[in-house]
Amino acid sequence: MVKKLEADKTLSDSELADLLETDIYDSSLFEAADRVRRSIYGTDVYIRGLIEFTNYCKNNCYYCGIRGKNNKLNRYRLSHDDILSCCKTGYELGFRTFVLQGGEDDHYKEEIIYKIVSGIKTNYPDCAVTLSIGEKTYKNYKAYFEAGADRYLLRHETADDEHYKKLHPENMSLENRKECLHNLKEIGYQVGSGFMVGSPFQKTEHLIKDIRFLQELEPEMIGIGPYITHKDTPFKNEKSGSLELTLRLLAVLRLMFPYVLLPATTALGTITPDGRELGLKAGANVVMPNLSPVNVRKQYSLYDNKICTGEEAAECRACLGRRVNSAGYQIVVSRGDVKK
Ligand code: SAM
Ligand code: FES
Repeated sequence: MVKKLEADKTLSDSELADLLETDIYDSSLFEAADRVRRSIYGTDVYIRGLIEFTNYCKNNCYYCGIRGKNNKLNRYRLSHDDILSCCKTGYELGFRTFVLQGGEDDHYKEEIIYKIVSGIKTNYPDCAVTLSIGEKTYKNYKAYFEAGADRYLLRHETADDEHYKKLHPENMSLENRKECLHNLKEIGYQVGSGFMVGSPFQKTEHLIKDIRFLQELEPEMIGIGPYITHKDTPFKNEKSGSLELTLRLLAVLRLMFPYVLLPATTALGTITPDGRELGLKAGANVVMPNLSPVNVRKQYSLYDNKICTGEEAAECRACLGRRVNSAGYQIVVSRGDVKK
């Protein structure tokens, strides 16, 4: 089955289900994924400097620790100057992509995001700017793009309508999420989508729908990581997703989308100490260390026990360099665009 997947870059639904549901460890899946990743990206690993610039959020996704109704959280916002100072530190450490991520925070009106993005692009014209700030209007997306934003990350979360409704309140819809993704593509962004592995109520059939949706969308980046429980959410009693299934999915995605930018996520490093290294060996080629100021890190608490909340950016960069090397790859100083 692995050979077929490598050759055809797809499988039938029932073959995919078999591959995802098996309990048997099959090294050939990971070897094939690594072979494909090396044939396109060699041993290069791209780094993205993640700046978590606001933990205010008007939404209430049932799984997320920064949901608006979580009143146990201290909220913070970074100013224009704070963000530029994170970029300065990041640039000196070799970052050539900055990812601005936040809750859906209406304080940052279109003009504010425009100024931040154009400020970064003026100071660092050789860098890419990625936004990850949720569902906005076509007009907003267009304005950010005109300011110089290159990429946008918006996970679809689940491609099954019923499942989507179990993870989100009524005012949110899969339809709108998908429309946003199509708008982003049309405007010209390099687009990233993705989903959580092992989110509450998720079944194999949902994962297959996720994969089919991604085949249709053809994103440049795919972000997947395990769902991890957060104690102050409605899902506080649900269990977290597994390392094994996340790794298997990373390998399957690498074989189906050979060119794609695939992060070994912080969530993967949170459920297992060497999770990101294992993710790289399963086909991932991107890591996203944190550049946010240390005094706000703990407050961007999407899930319990998030790693790297106490270290300065330079420490994280050095630690990650060692980890990437130990897995047999190396971090490169590059914008890290997709090789399509
Ligand atoms: N607000 C933006 C959005 O909705 O795209 C960006 C921030 S949002 C917190 C970033 C991602 O975190 C989500 O797409 C979701 O997949 C992930 N996330 C949220 N809660 C999580 C949890 N409990 N475990 C794992 N990932 C989680
Ligand atoms: Fe942050 Fe290791 S990557 S401390």
